[in-house]
Amino acid sequence: MRKVEVSFGSKIGMIAAAAGSAVGLGNIWRFPSQTAGGGGAMFILLYLLCVLIVGIPLMISEFAVGRTALSNAGEAYKKLAPKTGWVWLGRFAVLGSFLLLGFYLVVCGWTLDYCWQSISGSLARVDDYTANFAALQNSVPRQFLTTFIFCFLTAVFILGGVTKGIEASAKVMMPFLFLLLIVLAIRSITLPGSLEGLVYLFKPKFEGVPKTVFLDAVGQCFFSLSLGMGCMITYGSYCKRDNNLTNTAISVSLLGALVGILAGIVIFPSAFSLAAPGENVTEALIKGGPGLLFITIPKLFNNMPLSMLWAAMFFIILALAALTSTISLMEVSTVYLHEQLGISRTVSTLIILGGMLILSGLCCLSPHIFNLSDFITAKVMLPLSGILTSLFVGWRMDRNLLLAELTNDNTLHRSKGFLKIFSFLLRWIIPTILLVVFIYGLFF
Ligand code: PHE
Repeated sequence: MRKVEVSFGSKIGMIAAAAGSAVGLGNIWRFPSQTAGGGGAMFILLYLLCVLIVGIPLMISEFAVGRTALSNAGEAYKKLAPKTGWVWLGRFAVLGSFLLLGFYLVVCGWTLDYCWQSISGSLARVDDYTANFAALQNSVPRQFLTTFIFCFLTAVFILGGVTKGIEASAKVMMPFLFLLLIVLAIRSITLPGSLEGLVYLFKPKFEGVPKTVFLDAVGQCFFSLSLGMGCMITYGSYCKRDNNLTNTAISVSLLGALVGILAGIVIFPSAFSLAAPGENVTEALIKGGPGLLFITIPKLFNNMPLSMLWAAMFFIILALAALTSTISLMEVSTVYLHEQLGISRTVSTLIILGGMLILSGLCCLSPHIFNLSDFITAKVMLPLSGILTSLFVGWRMDRNLLLAELTNDNTLHRSKGFLKIFSFLLRWIIPTILLVVFIYGLFF
């Protein structure tokens, strides 16, 4: 039970915190690659369409569930549908948020290691970048060190509390991240021959586009907007009643897409400009993922004057983006324990920190556990939780309570058409689309 009301201090703070959760590794290691491989500008339009029909309605729904229940994600459904099986949906999301931290934190650790390698200058002296990354992946002590530092860093902001920790840090880190991204994007497009990379990234194309591009776009939109893991329910519960939930969801989604596009502008033009003659980097660019971030990019940046400055900037951007996401993930389970067990926020932070150290430590030790944590959360729990959230808000949630959320207690006008479309999407379209994504992700 929440005993004292807690809320973000301002509308901007709410947007910064939610955008901080949304903007993460997914925007930087997947969005640009998917854009280039999925039809360039066509993919961006498709992605925005997914955001419109799946992402925004679900984000509004999660905010609404949190703000109506005024409780942690685990208890929210219990409050809105007492004595029903829906209570498990909230607990499922809390568990998912915790498990997701397992593999996510290891990658966060890698970004820290690379921050250090660029700042210390050792990255500039590397001969074989593939071996350099493999050495990190094979070194348990190095991974332990950086992953654990990242866990402690995340915990420090959680200990700071909702306004002074989460909100205040997001209000500083997010603008700084944008600033660095813009500087790096300008550097990238002013390199000789960069235009080719921009054309490659954005030119609309149909040839070679995979048939599953729509499903890829939905999956990306869903992961990237931090849906299905209780983060937006938790942040919704900290959202003041005069915040317009629709506008907040639109702003967060657009900021997420903008970061993805800016990351593309950083990566593609530099790749085309800096690749050695005869070197084919397009395959790595389209594949994305860790190989792109930790092998291709450092190698390319090394061909640039002041290479370590730009590499450091790139990895700091990654670490910041990842940190605001891990903060949101850790907050979900921390506040759950804090409110459900009636223990202090400090004690529950320390318990979750202990759990994170164990889980991420196991993921460092075993690639199987790492892959399992990724698969179970991203491919199974995320879509399942999304389907159920959509069905809950579409069919089960009290209509008057939902309307009060959408209209801010009748102070905002919402046309009948808007409400009908919103409801239709949640009842039929989103569950169907996510079911297809779920089955596809599981079997193909
Ligand atoms: N949105 C984050 C990213 O793009 C990942 C994330 C998923 C964070 C779900 C919280 C919840 O990297």
